[in-house]
Order: sequence, then C-alpha cells, then structure tokens
Amino acid sequence: MAIAESIEDKLDVVQVRKHFPIFSYPENAELIYLDSAATTQRPTKVLDAIRHFNEEYNSNIHRSAYKLAEKATAGYECARLLIAQFIGAAHSHEIIFTRGATEAINFVMRGWGEKFLKPGDEILLSEMEHHSNLVPWQVAAQKSGAKLQFIPLDDSGELELGKLDDLLTERTRLVAVTHASNVLGTRVDVKRIIDAAHEMKALVLVDGAQHVPHSPVNVQDLDADFYVFSGHKMLGPMGIGILYGKEALLDAMDPVLYGGSMIDDVGYYESTWAKLPWKFEAGTQNIPAVIGLGAAIELLEEWGMRRIEKHDRMLTGYVLQQLEQLDFVTVFGPKEHRNPVISFAIQGIHAHDIATFFDSRNIAIRSGHHCAKLIMKKLNISATARASFYLYNTTEHVDLFVDAIHKARGYFARWI
Ligand SMILES: Cc1ncc(COP(=O)(O)O)c(C=O)c1O
Repeated sequence: MAIAESIEDKLDVVQVRKHFPIFSYPENAELIYLDSAATTQRPTKVLDAIRHFNEEYNSNIHRSAYKLAEKATAGYECARLLIAQFIGAAHSHEIIFTRGATEAINFVMRGWGEKFLKPGDEILLSEMEHHSNLVPWQVAAQKSGAKLQFIPLDDSGELELGKLDDLLTERTRLVAVTHASNVLGTRVDVKRIIDAAHEMKALVLVDGAQHVPHSPVNVQDLDADFYVFSGHKMLGPMGIGILYGKEALLDAMDPVLYGGSMIDDVGYYESTWAKLPWKFEAGTQNIPAVIGLGAAIELLEEWGMRRIEKHDRMLTGYVLQQLEQLDFVTVFGPKEHRNPVISFAIQGIHAHDIATFFDSRNIAIRSGHHCAKLIMKKLNISATARASFYLYNTTEHVDLFVDAIHKARGYFARWI
C-alpha cells in the first residue's frame, strides 16, 4: 500500500515528456532545456486547443448569436472559471485576462495606483523584485509623490522579514512583493507579509509569476489583494497573463484600457463601464491564448500540483547537493525553501561564456541580470548564469548539467 501510494505520488517524467513535441523534434533530440523560469515548453494539449480554436471555431466572443461564437465564448469563459478554481478565487469575475504578469502589474499601477496614491503615501517593495514589479511602482511614485521603501535582501538570499514592523507604517498603502525569486529561487513567506500589511491597512500585490508553476496557490487562504502571473511560465501560451483582484478592489479601480467590450452604455460625451471582469477587457482579447491556458491548467491539475512541487523540490535538492561539493562554483540564493531556479557562477568564467559553452553541449541556460538589477547590485555582480528546472527535467539532466560545469572549467582553464 505504502509503495503504491509513493508511486502514485511521484510525477512520471517519462510520460510527462511525451506530451512535449519540442523534445521529439529531430533537431532537439539532444536538447536539455533548463530555462523554464524564462518560459516553459508547451504540451500538445495546449497546442491542440489553440489549433482547434483557429481551425474549428475561430470567431469573436461575447457579441454574436451564432454557434461558432457561442463556442468561442464558452471556451473563453470556461478557462476563466478553471483559472479561478486553480488559484482558489472566490469568483471567476475576479480573474482578469492580461498579456502577462507585467501587464497585470501595470493594470494595478494604472487602475488603482493612479487613482488612489497621494503624496506622502508609501509603497513597500523588496530588493528581490523583477523589474516588472519595480519599474511600474517607480513611475507610480514619481507621478503621485508617493515614496518607495524596500524590504532588504540578506546575504543568504532571503528577505529580511524581521524588519517588516519598522518598514510598514500607517502611510504604507501597498506592498508589492514576489512570491518566488526568478534569480535566487527564494520562496517568500508572503502570508506573513500579507498579515502584517493588513494590520497596517495596506494592500498587498503578490507577483506569482515564478510560484504558480511550481506550487499550489490559494489566494483566499493567502488573503492576497492582488495576485498576478503569466501563462507562458506554466505550460500555457505566450501573450496571456492573469490579474486576480478581490472583487471590491477591482470594482473600485478605474479601467485601464477604454473602447469596445468594456462599456455598459455609451453616449455622445460619456460612457459607463461594464461589470467585472469585462470592465478591464477592452477590445478583442487573445482568445486562443486564453483557451490554451485553460488547457495547460487542466494538464497541471491532472499531473497534480503537489506532485509537481515534490518533483521540483527533489531536483532542487539534488542539484544543490552536487554543486555544494564544487569549491569553484558559487550558488546564489538560500540553501532551503527554494524553487528549482539555480543562479550560479564558475570562478573566473563570465556568465555569458558559461551559457555559450553550455549551448555548445545542447544545454539551454540563461545568463544576464534576469531583469532583477537590484539583486545584481546587492550581490555586487553584473550577471549570473541561471539554470531553471521544471516538470520535464530529470536527475540525468542535473548530472549532465554538473558535468558541463566541470567541462567548462577545463575548457576555460587556459584563460583563467
Ligand atoms: C518574478 C517575475 N515577475 C514577473 C515577470 C514578468 O513576466 P512576463 O514577462 O510574462 O510579463 C517575470 C518574468 O520573468 C518574473 O520572473
């Protein structure tokens, strides 16, 4: 019984990989894809959902009585329902479709920030934010006269949450913080931040772009006010993202885009807005991407978010254990409570050279500042190499990754 349970509990990666046509494409026979933090690969189910829409029922939603458009509308709204259930939202109309996490944050910055922020207000961010959750708030602060504060990052790659009591004041209107770092892999205790912020009557926006693909999320348990993420980082298509917001907050916000589909009534000189969620969905949406994201979520649920989390944790532990033994390799970020995003340096070799060398061995990793320049400044470096693992990666991939580190060191030795 125990054995059966543990087998069921395990993600069957061999089966999982069969769902991703990119890995059986002849040119990619040798590919080891370790860049899922940038974007994940897309399974056949998602590609089929998009193709079926385009081939069988391509039409615009919400405005037609004919069957084709009814089917498109049903597919679109059904995806919204799936997403609401996936993140535990109270209502499907709290799910707003955007182009991605970046646009979702910009929606809050424009629709909420521009309406409610005033001079002297404070916005609390962290030093670990992706530029997507930093730059919009810099602009919001410049426009409104609000002040930015930062939860510091400590040397181990964790946020100094002990400083929250000092950083949160009666002037704090919003805390905008990542759920997991795209550079350090750090998983942030956002529940603690949300509870502390709410005590001070501040709202919290959580950037879940790097968390939702790896772990179950329940926005109601978290009591998050806003929660954003991107479809393409969780097996879905590019060009689709989610803004979750509590109903009352979304109702209070101004629309961000104006035009067709978002109105209730239109006169010569003024108009009124549609109800949620349509108030925020002006113009023709990326309907096939929404339907594709719905398919991705069905697959993630079929494979099981707990199983995926466990698999990712196993890979993370395995890779960290191997890298710990290499005195010429620095791994950035905490040793525990982290996602399978491994930023590292090899002594004497530039991050870009590492990535290029890995590419020559068909291992796709990323190098650069990863849109998180505050982390780079804190670590006093300009770039890291980054390998990010996901549900289609195996321990053999980790072994080949570690082997490539040894080979890179050998190859570059003559210049070090
Ligand atoms: C933590 C984090 N937030 C936000 C984003 C922005 O996502 P997108 O480019 O899909 O809008 C990313 C993308 O890498 C990310 O890693």
